[in-house]
Amino acid sequence: MMILAIETSCDETSAAVVKDGQAVLSNVISSQIEFHKKYGGIVPEVAARKHIEVINLVIKEAMDTAGVSFSELDAVAVTYGPGLVGSLIVGLSAAKAIAWGLGKPLIGVNHLEGHIYANFLVPRPSSLAPQFPFICLLVSGGHTMIIKVNGHGQYETLGRTRDDAAGEAYDKVARLLGLGYPGGPVIDKLAKEGNPKAVKFTRPMLNDGYDFSFSGIKTAVVNIVHRPSSLVPRPADIAASFQQAVVDVLVEKTVRAALATGCSTVTLAGGVSANSQLRAQLKARGEGEGLKVLIPPFEYCTDNAAMIGAAASFVPRPSSLELSPVASLKL
Ligand SMILES: Nc1ncnc2c1ncn2[C@@H]1O[C@H](COP(=O)(O)OP(=O)(O)OP(=O)(O)O)[C@@H](O)[C@H]1O
Ligand SMILES: [Mg+2]
Repeated sequence: MMILAIETSCDETSAAVVKDGQAVLSNVISSQIEFHKKYGGIVPEVAARKHIEVINLVIKEAMDTAGVSFSELDAVAVTYGPGLVGSLIVGLSAAKAIAWGLGKPLIGVNHLEGHIYANFLVPRPSSLAPQFPFICLLVSGGHTMIIKVNGHGQYETLGRTRDDAAGEAYDKVARLLGLGYPGGPVIDKLAKEGNPKAVKFTRPMLNDGYDFSFSGIKTAVVNIVHRPSSLVPRPADIAASFQQAVVDVLVEKTVRAALATGCSTVTLAGGVSANSQLRAQLKARGEGEGLKVLIPPFEYCTDNAAMIGAAASFVPRPSSLELSPVASLKL
């Protein structure tokens, strides 16, 4: 099954050609980050306009790189939520036009499902593909969830954040430290030069079910940076201590969820899964408990269309050209 997948839910315009849900023939990503940096976050109107400017070029590049003609496609897949409505509409319109023109099915995909299915794309032997049921820690700019995946398209949410998402906390803390946007990669890098024990942050809700709360750590950082300047720790120490607190809670709850539910595999998904410490600590802690820990390559962690193509291939859905964007689509 040859799928052209399109993803425009936030600030990345992406198109990919995916064969049989696993082989990525192309995965073109045009990021708008440089345009949004000066505003300290994503401006929805700017995002929608930028998608319009590049969507056709990105699709053409994806098809050219894959060496596939439109007539060889079996279906067109597109993210229809959750995300920014103005951004989603651009991808949806392009996907509808292509599907209608070709007379091929249009498959709507939930962006969060796409993040989970990044784990099926990886170029690893099929013996290492995730086996059901497995636990997925989905950590991104807008979501933080522990999901038990019972089969293709069968999700059981065990826990979620009660306030900020982990990525959102990274972005807000980076802004407080004057490190710019997006915060995740820059804090990840700076933390390598800092002492993770320099600042004592509590580990919120560590022993309290599978839900998360990250706004308290963010407020603790606010209080620290507002101290008299001689009492403010080095930014690298704040970054390292903040990251350690966030990663400790994410890893602990994920491993505990796998052990409690009898799942032998743990997977990682979403933009924050690009975090070097989260990847290393989850692997060490999970494997220490005898779990198989699967982590997608970096390029499939943040927003990309290949993951949308994988989800569309494995989770069959009825085709409809009536598909509309759903900003707060649930898993
Ligand atoms: N190395 C990293 N360490 C920590 N966080 C990171 C890293 N790289 C990216 N991030 C964070 O990942 C988030 C972006 O992830 P993603 O693109 O999946 O989010 P989104 O698509 O905006 O949200 P959602 O997927 O919930 O709709 C940002 O908050 C960013 O700071
Ligand atoms: Mg995302």
